[in-house]
Amino acid sequence: MGSYPLIEQFARAGQGQVFAHFDRCSPLEQQALLAEAAEIDLAEIARLTRTLLAKSAGAGASLDGLAPAPYERHPSNGGDAAAWARAKAAGEVALTAGRVAAFTVAGGQGTRLGYDGPKGTFPVTPVLRKPLFHVFAEKILAAGRRYGKPLHWFIMTSHANHDATEAFFAEHKWFGLDRARVHCFRQGRMPAVDFSGKILLEAPHAIALSPDGHGGSLRALERSGALDLMKREGADILSYFQVDNPLVRCIDPAFIGWHLARGSEMSSKMVTKAYAEEKVGHFCTQHGKLVVVEYSDLPMAMQRETDAAGGLRYPAGNIAIHLLDREFVRRMASGGEGVALPFHRADKKIPCLDAAGQLVKPEKANGVKFEMFVFDAIPFARHPIVVETRRADDFSPVKNAEGVDSPQTCRDDQLRQFARWLAANGAAIETDARGLPGFPIEVSPLFGYDEDSFADAWRRLASKPAVQSGLVLA
Ligand code: UD1
Repeated sequence: MGSYPLIEQFARAGQGQVFAHFDRCSPLEQQALLAEAAEIDLAEIARLTRTLLAKSAGAGASLDGLAPAPYERHPSNGGDAAAWARAKAAGEVALTAGRVAAFTVAGGQGTRLGYDGPKGTFPVTPVLRKPLFHVFAEKILAAGRRYGKPLHWFIMTSHANHDATEAFFAEHKWFGLDRARVHCFRQGRMPAVDFSGKILLEAPHAIALSPDGHGGSLRALERSGALDLMKREGADILSYFQVDNPLVRCIDPAFIGWHLARGSEMSSKMVTKAYAEEKVGHFCTQHGKLVVVEYSDLPMAMQRETDAAGGLRYPAGNIAIHLLDREFVRRMASGGEGVALPFHRADKKIPCLDAAGQLVKPEKANGVKFEMFVFDAIPFARHPIVVETRRADDFSPVKNAEGVDSPQTCRDDQLRQFARWLAANGAAIETDARGLPGFPIEVSPLFGYDEDSFADAWRRLASKPAVQSGLVLA
């Protein structure tokens, strides 16, 4: 087996099986395996085996001391309109000063949607069928124009979809953005292990590696040089959103203003849960800290609990839209004393080599993948806040092929939004009881990407077009 210090380290850590087939690999394969092994932090795997895999490890999150989180109410829900106007003005000043960069996490595998290819390439708009990345690109381009400062856009990919993502942007000429301001970088990977903590192989020369979760974005931002680039460019706030949500206001001045006004290092948007069982995380407080408790960790009885007024006791749904201070991300990425994001375990069916070196496709979970979640950074942040938004303005994800959060529900939500904007500005448009116009229309983000920009653009039109089937405002 030659004398490779790495192989010896693995053997000493009880992970010698990783190199069980090393001798029958070609030199190229051997190099590939060594490179993968070098990515792995053996001490981290040993710690996770002790803490997350041991029989004595507690199941799920602790619910001790949990209470509903306070949040900044939107004016449509009793919030102080004047304070929101001040926040918006402050956010606009920050945007004009170039302090904000956009950030999309797009490293997920999109398995639920059943779409082959990076999820950002999935077509979503009602008429032109623009892909998700196209929608975000135009929103970011439009915001840059509105505030006179083009924005940097960071996109976190995975090893599996990185090349395809970059090729997609190149093919579409970066959707009109300055290509020097679009930065794709890969997230980290973690090895899958069996239930006793042994690292699994997916081929004689390949470790079963998978993305380290969207929480891996904090390390990846640092490692990729994104934070240094921001510093050089005078940008100190990241506007974080997920690749699955075309309704998101990628850049929202009022949200930015609240973040600044409160001296928050990490701010989050919330919507009131549509119904008790909705599969979103919950903003809560726990022993004085703001936290998110995933739907899978909050017992259904608690999700259904109501308050004195009959509303949900835990109404604040996490829609995965955050603002993060650059230096806070750096602090978290350093993993210094007491600031590391925790890992979560997910038991999965992991195709892997058995002891005889044969590939097996298990029928039931045979091992564990480790992931970090970005919202676990919230309790580490100084003065974190939660800010309410209207669902119709910010949230309609595409997660499933059919049913809730599907391409169909997302198209309908976009149509409702376009119809609302048109009606609010005096256009003659009829909608049914569900708020839907009877025909497809589309507003390009380059025309208007939120209520304000739409109103300005509509006002500037010398002659207003008739609202009819297939209308495209571009
Ligand atoms: C997520 C949140 C949930 C929130 C909901 C809102 C988690 C665990 N839960 O649920 O609290 O209410 O969104 O829509 O996140 N991603 C990566 N790398 C990875 C894994 C994921 O970049 O390794 C990205 C995906 O591309 C996607 C996003 O993270 O943009 C969300 O991932 P997903 O696993 O789909 O989260 P949900 O379970 O839908």
